[in-house]
Amino acid sequence: MEEFFYEEPSLRRKDEAIEFINEFIKNNSNINGTGGLDRYLDDYEGWLVKLEQDYRANQPEGRVPALTYFLVRESDNKIIGMINIRLVLNDYLRRHGGHIGYCIRPSEREKGYNKINLYLGLKVCQQHEVEEALLDADLDNPASWKTMESLGGIRVEEYIDEVDQTKSVRYIIPVDDSINRYKDIYESKIKHY
Ligand SMILES: CC(C)(COP(=O)(O)OP(=O)(O)OC[C@H]1O[C@@H](n2cnc3c(N)ncnc32)[C@H](O)[C@@H]1OP(=O)(O)O)[C@@H](O)C(=O)NCCC(=O)NCCS
Repeated sequence: MEEFFYEEPSLRRKDEAIEFINEFIKNNSNINGTGGLDRYLDDYEGWLVKLEQDYRANQPEGRVPALTYFLVRESDNKIIGMINIRLVLNDYLRRHGGHIGYCIRPSEREKGYNKINLYLGLKVCQQHEVEEALLDADLDNPASWKTMESLGGIRVEEYIDEVDQTKSVRYIIPVDDSINRYKDIYESKIKHY
């Protein structure tokens, strides 16, 4: 059974993290949930500092505390995906982005890995007392919204996103309920230390 865990980004994954993002670029893929790593490819150290600032309680105006993780597969110790979890929402995030952004590297998609990623993300939400996770996705990105539905997400709205003018869908995931409902499937896929 393959197992996965979250790892906080650090210097020791520098080369691998850059290679991870380059795989998206090579495949012309959207990049989400990386905490901006794709904008810091030539300043990985600066990105690590940014992540520390992202988590600080006293954010500059308009910023909220957020956590970013690598999703790592235990068997080959490889970065498979990433997630960015906003622990508090501001008005902008309520309208665009919600609590969670995520991605799985192109070569590892359609294997159910993002469902594991979201399950782990919901556990982080639970630890930080986020009771209802709000997520959104483009309507033409079923891999994203089906992930939400697979973890008990309830579609609350279809709308035109004011930021990028795309047809979008918004989901609410009741965090405790989801974890209780799906723990038998996903706990065995998580590396417990
Ligand atoms: C969205 C993304 C994270 C999905 O990752 P993934 O590991 O392939 O997803 P999973 O294999 O866990 O599949 C999740 C669900 O989506 C479905 N799915 C996966 N790929 C799909 C596709 N290309 N078309 C339709 N459904 C798809 C799966 O069948 C599964 O649904 P199910 O439980 O009903 O069977 C990945 O495609 C990605 O990184 N995309 C680029 C970044 C992005 O768009 N992030 C989301 C922004 S909101």
